[in-house]
Amino acid sequence: MAKIIGLAGSLRSGSFNSALLRAAAEVAPKSLEVQIASIAGIPLYDADLESEKGLPETVTALKELVAAADGFLIVTPEYNSSMPGVLKNAIDWLSRPAKDISRVFGDKPVGLFGAAQVFDAQGVLVDEKIKKLLTELMVGFSAFVDE
Ligand code: FNR
Repeated sequence: MAKIIGLAGSLRSGSFNSALLRAAAEVAPKSLEVQIASIAGIPLYDADLESEKGLPETVTALKELVAAADGFLIVTPEYNSSMPGVLKNAIDWLSRPAKDISRVFGDKPVGLFGAAQVFDAQGVLVDEKIKKLLTELMVGFSAFVDE
């Protein structure tokens, strides 16, 4: 049976994205095991800390989970049109030392999605800013397809 590691990009106890990740794990086919891991407790990346003490235990544990998994699913909020710093920080730690990157991430299918408060109760996109961003994205994508 394939096994993937799921990670939420939010530390908030009431996180919509953590809830979405739990829901994703619940609806996943029986042939797919989704193990939910966490970025809680991972310190800020500090190269001095790494060279003095190596990787923190929380990082090593998460890194080995990802390395052993068949896939990696990230469910994250958008912060200022990017990923939250806490998630980027965790990924930066997971990429250390660089010689391990291919063992941990090489050829690994990665899924990425998120929940934001931009839909109405019917699931219609009602946030005009996001609608504009999405429109721009589709225009760019269409041009890319046409190249
Ligand atoms: C946000 N939020 C947000 N939402 C969005 O659609 N686009 C964005 O760029 C941002 N930027 C942003 C920055 C910062 C600093 C915060 C705190 C929030 C809203 C955010 O996605 C929303 O609060 C989510 O519900 C947070 O995710 P969790 O904690 O519910 O999983």
